[in-house]
Amino acid sequence: MTTALQMKDVHKWFGSHQVLDGFNLHIETGEILGLLGPNGCGKTTVLNIVCNLLSYDEGEVLLMGEPINKLSFQVSSRVGFCTQRTALYPDLLPAENLLFFARLYGLSETQCKQRVAELISDFELDAFATTRVGQLSGGWQQRLHLAVSLVNRPLFLVLDEPTSAVDLQARMDLWKLIDGLRENGTTILLTSHYLPEAERLCSRVALMRNGQVVAAGSVPELLARTPGQAVAKVQATNNEAIMQRAINLGWPVRHHAGEIRLFLPHPLSLREIIDALDGTNVSAVSVQPVTLEDAYLELVGEDPSTVLG
Ligand SMILES: Nc1ncnc2c1ncn2[C@@H]1O[C@H](COP(=O)(O)OP(=O)(O)OP(=O)(O)O)[C@@H](O)[C@H]1O
Ligand SMILES: [Mg+2]
Repeated sequence: MTTALQMKDVHKWFGSHQVLDGFNLHIETGEILGLLGPNGCGKTTVLNIVCNLLSYDEGEVLLMGEPINKLSFQVSSRVGFCTQRTALYPDLLPAENLLFFARLYGLSETQCKQRVAELISDFELDAFATTRVGQLSGGWQQRLHLAVSLVNRPLFLVLDEPTSAVDLQARMDLWKLIDGLRENGTTILLTSHYLPEAERLCSRVALMRNGQVVAAGSVPELLARTPGQAVAKVQATNNEAIMQRAINLGWPVRHHAGEIRLFLPHPLSLREIIDALDGTNVSAVSVQPVTLEDAYLELVGEDPSTVLG
């Protein structure tokens, strides 16, 4: 495997506001890496740096072996960027939007027309050939937005929240398109706030906090960093009693946004859990294997005062 992206000890300030503080990340060729973290933690800043749209103050960035430290057409011609906000012309047709962006890459007129036809077909945009983009649904606009980022056949594709604000069906359709790109060998760096999406799409995930990557690995590797194999979500009239019982049982307990989660050191049946919590006025219990959401809450964290056990 070759390394597609290597970011070492990158620092970025906006004036006196430090956004990246020793940011490290590597992506192997052919991977889909998901960069996850809270609003404002610096994800889009990282993507802008990778796409050579933003300078950085310290560190090193190598994309497909080439240093990224100045604007360079050579690099951008191999990179596709599907930005967080759709950048389409609402008064133009889908094909006209694609043609506009294809021309920006300096393709010949024949190549432009051929590429536009391919993308219209691959993304099944034919049905909307005569619909102005402003009249398309949000899901179809997002689909066209993804198609636009592919006009230059990028080897390295950057997707900033590619499925935010689209419905479930549109999201699943976009996932299939992204899977197809990976199967064709495209390396992908994406961000998302939707953790099941990262779990579904990504070969590795990097979790970000305070301008740094705090944990990176495959989903199973990140799940192994939680203190249990399963999580019981519990509702009760007396949270204190539940939390105290969990501590007595040696089950790590978390209280996030009003929800009590108990990490089970080994899988237990619902009956065994209810018996263990007997006398604590439990009104509902559900149990499920640990998910990326549990790993995220553990590793990116919330208010430390809510973490017990
Ligand atoms: N051009 C800029 N000038 C000044 N500050 C900026 C600029 N761009 C981003 N910031 C600040 O840098 C921080 C990181 O922003 P960034 O957009 O990278 O976050 P993000 O992780 O992508 O957030 P979100 O999940 O909301 O998209 C924020 O505090 C933001 O306000
Ligand atoms: Mg962002």
